[in-house]
Amino acid sequence: MDAADVSDDLLNVLYTEAEIQARIKELAADIEADYAGKDLLIVGILRGAVMVMADMARSFSRHVEMDWMAVSSYGSGTKSSGVVRILKDLDTDISGRHVVIVDEIIDTGLTLSWLTSNLSSRNPASVEIATLLRKPEALQMPVDVKYVGWDIPNEFVVGYGLDYKERYRNLRDIGTLAPHVYS
Ligand code: IMP
Ligand code: MG
Repeated sequence: MDAADVSDDLLNVLYTEAEIQARIKELAADIEADYAGKDLLIVGILRGAVMVMADMARSFSRHVEMDWMAVSSYGSGTKSSGVVRILKDLDTDISGRHVVIVDEIIDTGLTLSWLTSNLSSRNPASVEIATLLRKPEALQMPVDVKYVGWDIPNEFVVGYGLDYKERYRNLRDIGTLAPHVYS
């Protein structure tokens, strides 16, 4: 669905579908250059990273392996507690592999900080992070992110995989949610 289909629910469109596609192509090109001659496994974090993974993987002009993890933070509602539980682990043994974790947004950084150290303990050749969005003002943990699409203000955004109560994930664009939607 397009921003026009849910225009009443959005305060504004931050990034259009075309802008997102262009930026993902750039990120994929950077990754492709950095991993030239190396085997590469990209790990998508379910469910939000599905769109980024699908578009990024298809932007590569090389082979890339894809695997998925699902994690959940203990703690209530919208607050990340930093204690992370693995709901679905990798199917792949990553020892000796070059891994890029792909996520759609870094907010507090708690999830990816935990995930990076978890994957690093499995003896991979390397672990890096690629995220489409990052909220620098919300960061509570230092997370070393190699590939960032855009830094955004500390506002709740939806679309392109990002949800509010499981809705808006299938929105093609990324926008900020109007306050009336929360109430
Ligand atoms: P963390 O706070 O960096 O651990 O982020 C954990 C997760 O919260 C992200 O992967 C998203 O799934 C979700 N999240 C954080 N900010 C937003 C937002 O603005 N919109 C939708 N989901 C978000
Ligand atoms: Mg996520």
